[in-house]
Amino acid sequence: MVIDACHEERADQRPRLPVRRAFTLGVAGLLTAAGVLTLAGTASAASTLGGAAAAKGRYFGAAVAANHLGEGQYAATLDTEFNAVTPENEMKWESVESSRNSFNFGAADQIVSHAQGKSMKIRGHTLVWHSQLPGWVGGLGATDLRSAMNNHITKVMQHYQGKIYAWDVVNEAFQDGGSGARRSSPFQDKLGDGFIEEAFRTARAADPNAKLCYNDYNTDGQNAKSNAVYAMVKDFKARGVPIDCVGFQSHFNSQSPVPGDYQQNLQRFADLGVDVQITELDIEGSGSAQADSYRRVTQACLAVSRCTGITVWGIPDKYSWRASGTPLLFDDNYGKKPAYDAVLAALGGGGDGGGGGGGGRSCTVSYAETQRWGDRFNGQVTVRAGSSAISGWTVTVTLRSAQTVSATWNGSPSWDSSGKVMTMKPNGNGNLGAGASTSFGFTVMANGDWSAPTIGSCTAS
Ligand code: XIL
Repeated sequence: MVIDACHEERADQRPRLPVRRAFTLGVAGLLTAAGVLTLAGTASAASTLGGAAAAKGRYFGAAVAANHLGEGQYAATLDTEFNAVTPENEMKWESVESSRNSFNFGAADQIVSHAQGKSMKIRGHTLVWHSQLPGWVGGLGATDLRSAMNNHITKVMQHYQGKIYAWDVVNEAFQDGGSGARRSSPFQDKLGDGFIEEAFRTARAADPNAKLCYNDYNTDGQNAKSNAVYAMVKDFKARGVPIDCVGFQSHFNSQSPVPGDYQQNLQRFADLGVDVQITELDIEGSGSAQADSYRRVTQACLAVSRCTGITVWGIPDKYSWRASGTPLLFDDNYGKKPAYDAVLAALGGGGDGGGGGGGGRSCTVSYAETQRWGDRFNGQVTVRAGSSAISGWTVTVTLRSAQTVSATWNGSPSWDSSGKVMTMKPNGNGNLGAGASTSFGFTVMANGDWSAPTIGSCTAS
């Protein structure tokens, strides 16, 4: 009998093998595959965000507020989990120079000395920004404004000389929307386009050892705004204007999700010869959907060799600037959320018992492409219980936009409205002893895109 490689499979039925039989293993009939992608760490892997990131040559930081440092759980979580900090507000112009040439570094110094005591990297945020700018700055004429800007950069950077890893020299200088134009601000309106270049040149002279970054939001994917920033960075590099890094704030929510081309966008900036950093990450939501987005961001940074680190914009949800959207990795009681587990696993850390909470039940997933032919391929996800037995599991599979699924087996799928996100639950294979595994499979119609679908983290019950 000739097996037609292009026939449509019926759902919930294992497809017949095309042309040649694959090597099978054991009763479950698992197919061997080269390059199995393991999505979870081992028991010996680092058990904190900072430790796991360090093992990958990255930092993992948090925005920190000086007025919370006295709270035991806050400081303990910071010190245990993170190896970098960004003062959330304390280094902004209104905080350090609320009246002209009179500097107050008290709150920022508190964060800096805390971080130094724990050998954490410090990102300086931010020198020139239209927001949180004291009124007196906007009242100056061009000549005065130029010298006030340069004085501010110089005095602040010299105060922290040798202590700051990277400075956001200029923040949010481009407008949202399709124009790619500069944002109106006292600096832009009075000094013109050249203010950014001048700020970077002044910054290099003030602290030659700090990395100098341009930082912005809604530049996370390729769009008119990020294209405009890209053109500026390219021009700076061509003309020798000192710039070392670009920060991508990465504030995400349902209106502004993690863009599909996030990694490619980071990469194209890196290809200009600058470091890239994820500087203010927060993603509104909860549960496995939030965890999956965090995981994608973490994987994107790891996939770009010049992505030097990730900073989340706060520690527990309750102190987030967007607290109602619960966008962070820790809940209000400093409990680790599924997003935390996903980030830690993506960093290659964690392992059994790494999740905390959840009654000790945990699971991990790995993915392999087991078969490819004609116009489709088979994917297989292996679900493995952690150190405790589990009685159920949930894993999401997110297809590339061109792809569809024509068949599934050994699982019970449900689909989101986009038709691209399949949530798989057990179909009689939910009970797993400690360390035991099961697998489900699916056939993907590639429609030209042969890349692997994104496998979300595993949630155990
Ligand atoms: C936010 C802080 O989190 C808030 O506490 C403050 O009230 C406003 O600024 N882009 C930035 C950050 O570069 O400095 C902002 O931080 C968030 C958006």
